[in-house]
Parts: sequence; structure tokens; C-alpha cells
Amino acid sequence: MKTATMALLFVAATASAHVAPLESFETKPILADLKDLRALNIPVLAKDERIEVGYAIVTPLMQQRIQERAHQVGKCGGFEDLSQDVMLHSKGFDKMLQSLADIQEKNELYERAPFKILSLTKDARIEAALTEVSESNLRSYVTWLSSFPNRNNRDPQPNRHVDEMKQRLEAMLGNATIPYEISIIGHTSTKQNSIRVRLPGSERPNEIVVLGGHLDSINQSWGGDKAAPGADDNASGSANLIEALRILMNKEQPKRTVEIFWYAGEESGLLGSAEIAKQYKAEKKDVVAVLQLDMTLFPGSGELVIGSMTDFTSAWLRDYLKAMNETYLHARVVDDKCGYGCSDHASWNRQGYPALMPFEATFRNSNQNIHTAKDVISPASNFKHSAVYTKIALVMAMDLANSQARQPY
Ligand code: BES
Ligand code: ZN
Repeated sequence: MKTATMALLFVAATASAHVAPLESFETKPILADLKDLRALNIPVLAKDERIEVGYAIVTPLMQQRIQERAHQVGKCGGFEDLSQDVMLHSKGFDKMLQSLADIQEKNELYERAPFKILSLTKDARIEAALTEVSESNLRSYVTWLSSFPNRNNRDPQPNRHVDEMKQRLEAMLGNATIPYEISIIGHTSTKQNSIRVRLPGSERPNEIVVLGGHLDSINQSWGGDKAAPGADDNASGSANLIEALRILMNKEQPKRTVEIFWYAGEESGLLGSAEIAKQYKAEKKDVVAVLQLDMTLFPGSGELVIGSMTDFTSAWLRDYLKAMNETYLHARVVDDKCGYGCSDHASWNRQGYPALMPFEATFRNSNQNIHTAKDVISPASNFKHSAVYTKIALVMAMDLANSQARQPY
């Protein structure tokens, strides 16, 4: 009976081998787990005990056995094929130990690297959510927010727009199909309030993904019109967050908690975010990632060119932005610097939390009308460009907030 089963297995293996690529019939040089090679009695021609890797020349049957064993212990592949390795062919077997040492060194470098290469697996639900982002919604939110005379924290009525925003968010959230909490956050450094919408995580609610931007505006020009419409700075980022929330509230509840902030008093020195980040740190809150959206409407470096600020941000999250760009955004990401703590991400960074700031352009190509009465929707405003930043928020809420990924250092 046993022999019959083995014969059957052999036939099955032979049959399936007919459809396998021709090279799988070749005897080839490989690198494999030393333990696997030993367990299978495969002659080890060279080895590195430290990394438990062995070099062997294996027949097709040996290859099959290694693969079967690897699958049994939950690994895939089982070995690394070196038959195409140019260095091995040109320098020959006697260089094999050197090659193993090189691999060891590479592994060590990889482990020590400030971040690891990331890639995102395309998720159809995320792709579908991204198509829901509406440019006309973004335009109407920016139109509404920039219609206030100003949103300055030093205005005698610093919370007019904050209160109205809260009412609008509550009306929108009336249609939510996942749990949420909305709160007004008061501050000691300013009379203006921040707003937070919390989408509690279903599995790991203590792990928080923060998405934020400042809701206030300022006019710093001399004399003339003192209105501060702040369409780009930062009705645009605020609108991106409203639109992200509108889409998220009817999706699956995230496994991690997602918190969306509209901060107070950024223009007077990062006031709201500084207090919030300090408080979170004092309460030892586990903030896994912070996204800052501040100015997303003026495509100064070209449509769909994103400036990724490298100061006061995390290398891991900047790498994550590049990975999500490959998978979902198909824009261009260009590294740049503000040169100072130019927005609320710096508040979180100062407390040791990993932050990301994807910006409308490079610093020097950004909107020159900010902090004046001229920061209004204009023919230069580009809502298709701005929509990408809502997509970044959505990927962070639907991919990162559903994963176990965190900054590896
Ligand atoms: N949105 C700006 C920051 C900005 C401006 C970034 C131009 C890149 C290009 C932000 O609202 C702001 O004005 N920040 C202040 C600094 C803050 C600490 C008061 C600034 O840049 O002066
Ligand atoms: Zn500003």
C-alpha cells in the first residue's frame, strides 16, 4: 500500500513536472537553509554557520525535496537558485565562501538600515475607495472654508468656523456605518479649539494612526485687505481630511484606531498640535504614524508631483509613501525640505512620533499667495492634484491602520 502511494506520488510529480519550466529539470547550484540540506542528506559544498546557509549542487529530485520540506515548515521557495549568478559563473566555486560572507554582510546592513524596503499588496477594496474621492466635494469644502473672513486663532471670534465645522461633520457622520466619536479639544495656549474625529479600532484600539491638518488661517501682509481666506493654506488639507472621512465612515471598521484632527492655531506657532502631541506623549499613547496635510491645492512642481518633506518626518513613512505611490497613486514623489518645523508634523516629531508630510510641490515651487487675501481658489488651483492627498489619507487609514506595520527602529 505504502509502495503504491509512493508510486502514485512519483507519477503525480512526473506528470506535473511536464508543465514545469524546462530549467527545473536542470542540476543547479543553490543556497539553502543549512538545516534543510542536512536533514535531507544533501552534500553541502560550502557553508556559513553564522547565517545557517549552505551551498550545494542539487539534482531536480533534491530541489523537489527541499521545496516539499520548506512547504511543510511554512516557508515558500526553499532555496535560492544561483544558476544565473554571473559572479559565481565567472569566478567559480572557490569564491563561494566569499559570496556567502557578502550575503552575511548584506543581511547585517539590511538589519541595521534605518528602514526596510516596503511594498504594498494591491487591495481591491482600497482601489475602489480611491475612486470615490470627489474633486467637486473638495472644491465645495474649500469654497465654504475660505468664505470666512479669517480662521485666525487671535480673532475675537476664533471658533466660528470650528463650531460650524463640527456641526457639518456631525451631520455627515449621521450616515456613518462604523463607530465614531467627535470631540472639541480646548487649549491653554489659544482660545481656538481643535476638532478630533476618532474611529476606534476593532482589534488594536490602542494603536493610533493620526491624520491631520490645521484648520486656522492667517494674513501676514502689511496693510491692505486683511482677509485670510487660506484656501490653499490650509482649507485644502482640511478638505482632504473631510473627504477621506466621508469615504471611510462607510467602509469596514479599521483594526487600529484612526484619529482625524483639524488643529487650532498652527499659524501662531503650531499651538493646537503642540498641546495635543505633548498630551498624547504624557499619556503614553501608541501613535504608530502621523500624516500632516498642509497645502495641497497648488501644483507648483507639476500636476501630481508630491513634495515629501524630509525634515521632522520619519524615513519609514517617507518610504511608505513611495511604496503606496507605486501601488496606488501613480504620481511622482520628490524629496524636499522645509528647513524648519513648518507645520504640525513637527509637533508630533518633537514628541518622538513618526510623521509624514506630503506637500503640494517642492518648497520653492509652493504657492506664493499664502498668508494674504489672495490665497483663494483661482485658475491655478488644481483639485485633481489635491485629490491625491485624500488618497494618501485613505491608504493610511485602510492599509496601515489594518496592518501590524510600524517604524522598525
Ligand atoms: N503651510 C505653512 C507651511 C509652509 C509654507 C510649508 C510654505 C511649505 C511652504 C504653515 O501653515 C505655516 O505658515 N507655518 C509657519 C510656521 C509656524 C511654526 C508658525 C511658517 O511657515 O511660517
Ligand atoms: Zn501658513
